[in-house]
Amino acid sequence: MHLINNKKLLSFMVSESDNSIAVNNPATGECIGYAPITSKDEILDAIERSKLAQQSWAEQPAKARSAVLQQWYQLLLDNQDDLARLMTLEQGKPLAEAKGEVMYGASFIQWFAEEAKRTYGETIPAPSGDKRLLTIRQPVGVTAAITPWNFPIAMITRKAAPALAAGCSMLIKPAEDTPLSAFAMAELAYEAGVPKDLLIIVLGKQAAEVGDIFTTHPTIRKLSFTGSTRVGRLLMQQSAGDVKRTSMELGGNAPFIVFDDADIDSAVAGAMVSKFRNAGQTCVCANRFYVHSKVYDAFVSKFDTAVRALKVGNGMQEGVNIGPVINQAAKNNIQSLVDKAIEQGAEPTSSIEELAGLYLQPVILKNVKHNMDIVSQEIFGPVAPVICFDTDEELIEMANDTIYGLASYFYSQNVHRVWKVAEALQYGMVGINDGIISTEVAPFGGVKQSGIGREGAKQGIDEYMDIKYLCFGGN
Ligand code: SIN
Repeated sequence: MHLINNKKLLSFMVSESDNSIAVNNPATGECIGYAPITSKDEILDAIERSKLAQQSWAEQPAKARSAVLQQWYQLLLDNQDDLARLMTLEQGKPLAEAKGEVMYGASFIQWFAEEAKRTYGETIPAPSGDKRLLTIRQPVGVTAAITPWNFPIAMITRKAAPALAAGCSMLIKPAEDTPLSAFAMAELAYEAGVPKDLLIIVLGKQAAEVGDIFTTHPTIRKLSFTGSTRVGRLLMQQSAGDVKRTSMELGGNAPFIVFDDADIDSAVAGAMVSKFRNAGQTCVCANRFYVHSKVYDAFVSKFDTAVRALKVGNGMQEGVNIGPVINQAAKNNIQSLVDKAIEQGAEPTSSIEELAGLYLQPVILKNVKHNMDIVSQEIFGPVAPVICFDTDEELIEMANDTIYGLASYFYSQNVHRVWKVAEALQYGMVGINDGIISTEVAPFGGVKQSGIGREGAKQGIDEYMDIKYLCFGGN
């Protein structure tokens, strides 16, 4: 870990033992360090400590909580290079993308530091003259989060920053593949003045063990999860036992649509960022491309030229655009989707080279049909299936023909079509002539089985606050 200058970021690290988890670099397969495992008793103890810490944190004025968050934000900026290197080492994304993620993650802390001061209630005109009615907003209490490996920093700050801003505490279980960034982030939070018992990172021996505790412990009043729809369903079922609040940011199957009136160069540029960010491992990645028959060949040809220019390799090397995928199971799954699509008649636009380790060559598949498995499943890798369509009606039907409803994208220069399609797409987010929609200022979240709740934006803090109605009689 000589690449990390601020050794304080690694002070949580432990040596190899039964109580630690080895973290491997997906680019090389080498072990880069060991993170501590929290036993069941330690997790239960942490929940009790978290309860006490939350009570005194909630008593602090919003301005004081905001100041601590501002300081945390600043420390992320000060440590951007170290955090980015740590992220690339454990997650694999190219260093430039990792630096971008540190800034993206930091933006949620800054945003919610500001929102902390704006958790207003309201006065309500009473139905009778002797009453005065109003609402106040209060923190939910002790909360928990389960975060994914694809954005090891931003998915933590998008949950922890609004929780802390609202006056809640949070226990976080990061993904076993990428726990180092989570622990490093917590070190910076403590340095900024976040009490140690207010923000606690826990890693269980088994992910399911922590999930069970988070969903069934009565002290935890809210769970926020980012991950697969399958696990999200399970966590929601488990949380039903004590009617725990949940927010779920789950799987996606984003359609990326190119109409015949689109600016093709700009559609190709959008397709590249939407599809290949993080090697295709994002919930909002374009998963399937629908291109109008009149522009199909032109789009595929330009898209193919851009994809051939992508450089695959170790994210620490200059100029690399596509790092490794996260693990062997992910690689196997992507490869089997591609093999099956080819068996079913899809054609790669260039021959597919077998790459060693966890690397995959980016692939465009043409002549894909809407009913192929690769269209209905979340690929989570650098593969772009392209389907041809003729009418808007047929297109909308195919685009909405999924259990998912997270992100969608389309390119058109016809203002009437833009409104019609934007309203017809059954998705929580629609990128119109744009392939990158994520920002701290806009509400991120899905409909259908892509989830419940919104993260970021002014709505993000609502997930961590209860509304209390006060009725003053006898006036
Ligand atoms: C995700 O893949 O879950 C998050 C992507 C983003 O915030 O842009």
